[in-house]
Amino acid sequence: RVVRAGSTGNLCRSAGSTPAPLGRSAGSTPVLGLATGSTPVGTYRELARRHREDGLSFAHCRAFLLDEYIGLPKAAEQSYFSFIRDNFVDHVDLDDAAVFSPDGEADDIAAEAQRYDAAIAAAGGVDVQILGIGTDGHIGFNEPGSSLKSRTRVKTLTEQTRVDNARFFDSPEDVPHHVLTQGLGTIDEARHLVLIATGESKADAVAAAVEGPLSAYCPASAVQWHPHATVLLDEAAASSLA
Ligand code: F6R
Repeated sequence: RVVRAGSTGNLCRSAGSTPAPLGRSAGSTPVLGLATGSTPVGTYRELARRHREDGLSFAHCRAFLLDEYIGLPKAAEQSYFSFIRDNFVDHVDLDDAAVFSPDGEADDIAAEAQRYDAAIAAAGGVDVQILGIGTDGHIGFNEPGSSLKSRTRVKTLTEQTRVDNARFFDSPEDVPHHVLTQGLGTIDEARHLVLIATGESKADAVAAAVEGPLSAYCPASAVQWHPHATVLLDEAAASSLA
């Protein structure tokens, strides 16, 4: 399902079958999958507003981040551990201890990756996964060439992604080269994917993801085989769609 939000109102184009029910067993705590980066900041602001003004509560939720830089201390302002607290967790009633992220400082990164996938599974899986998209078509930090069945693991950022993310750092050289990211197979297990894209810089990646072939060369195309995926676009991000 692709939803374009424009100045003329909402344009809604349905691509795919009727969404499957979310299927979480009664009584278990809801699990959010959180993306970082600029794209979801507006969403997090709106959720915080609804928490403040409308009583929306996250008190019984748990949350898992998609990814984390390797070699950046958790406390660094640019770490995703800090980012999600600054932009979301600190503004709602989500318990800080219920927010999990891959540990990019772990001594044994491979073991940490396995532990993270196991923790997501032990929590019952992610109910709603928010995703942004990179200009090169990555989701999480699954760069082009990522296996569609991949699990949480180390990835090397492409030069394009390092340039794109340089705006968060004092100098482009400070952008880490490596990350620990949920794999495409991990992301695919979430019950509902919500991919958000805004701005013209994302238009080609969005078109490749939504209308191109399902391919490891455009990792975001993995949303095509997910039974319950929604793609939310502004007009600029939708501008390369046929
Ligand atoms: C971050 C993440 C990335 C970003 C993507 C877009 O957790 O998973 O896939 O969503 O790099 O970043 P922005 O939103 O900053 O353009």
